[in-house]
Amino acid sequence: MTDLTEFISRLPKCELHVHIEGTLEPELKFALAARNNVTLPYVDAAAMRASYAFHDLPSFLAVYYEGMSVLLTETDFYDLAWAYLNRAKEQNVRYAEIFFDPQAHTSRGVEFGTVLRGLRRAVLDARRLLDVRAQLIMCFMRDFSAEYAMATLMESLPYREWIIGVGLDSDERANPPDKFAAVFARARAEGYQLTMHCDLDQENSLDHIRQCLDVIGVDRIDHGVNCLESEELQDEIRRRGLGLTVCPISNGYVRGASWQDAVRNLLDAGLRVTVSSDDPAYMNGYVTENLLAVQAATPLTPAELVRLQRNAFEIAWLPDAVKDAYLAELDGYLAR
Ligand code: ADE
Ligand code: ZN
Repeated sequence: MTDLTEFISRLPKCELHVHIEGTLEPELKFALAARNNVTLPYVDAAAMRASYAFHDLPSFLAVYYEGMSVLLTETDFYDLAWAYLNRAKEQNVRYAEIFFDPQAHTSRGVEFGTVLRGLRRAVLDARRLLDVRAQLIMCFMRDFSAEYAMATLMESLPYREWIIGVGLDSDERANPPDKFAAVFARARAEGYQLTMHCDLDQENSLDHIRQCLDVIGVDRIDHGVNCLESEELQDEIRRRGLGLTVCPISNGYVRGASWQDAVRNLLDAGLRVTVSSDDPAYMNGYVTENLLAVQAATPLTPAELVRLQRNAFEIAWLPDAVKDAYLAELDGYLAR
């Protein structure tokens, strides 16, 4: 291991963009399939992994949603989140904000409460047993209707204390942020933090980022890399102090080469960029591997690698005193 590789792997990390369903590794998928009597269309985990060949967002999402058929009981959701949180611990992730897609489950007949109780129990156990802190962000699927999103928001209210914010994910094509303006206004009124995906190089990417700012009033943006094409958008994002949760390996899968210097360019533009893993089980890389991929493409100094984690802790949805403790831990790490 080179010094810098070791520096990255031991760095105290904050992961703000990871879909819990995207952490479902093939081995766990097979174990859950056996437990639940679900038949999978592959002979084993290796064959399943070999089938993961995506060329854009829809081709990824098709495989991703199909893979969720094995998630049925509260224990399944607990096991899924517990497996991720253990991986996070191994990579020295100190704090994670984790997306979940309730509609990917309620649309298959799994109850909202089944999903939430399983995830919540894993979050509590991780805090107690692993010293890893996590919070949950509920994502609406933008290719479903705004009415279904609103109904899901209402369904979440009894669990309000277990969910820190709401997001928007899935297929962006023809599903702009303003389709969900009323849902996000109501979520804001209920006290949720707000974020939305603006995936790399989508149709109308710049307009979608603009809507996030002007129509929705988001607290941060997931991906948002295309703001590099607009000085005006960058000015506004900087003025508001908003963070961008960029997922370099995922961007490579969804779009190809253009992701490679995004993190470097966003850092140079003085934006609060962070690095996360998105769907690590499908894209072959957790947060450490994402940082290593950035490092391999566009070398970063140790101070810049710490800057990425500082940005993440600063924009995290945590009380200031808790953030300060993590920031002090980071400072201590750099000083050593
Ligand atoms: N759901 C899981 N990963 C996603 C991504 N990268 N973009 C949109 N929706 C997603
Ligand atoms: Zn994502």
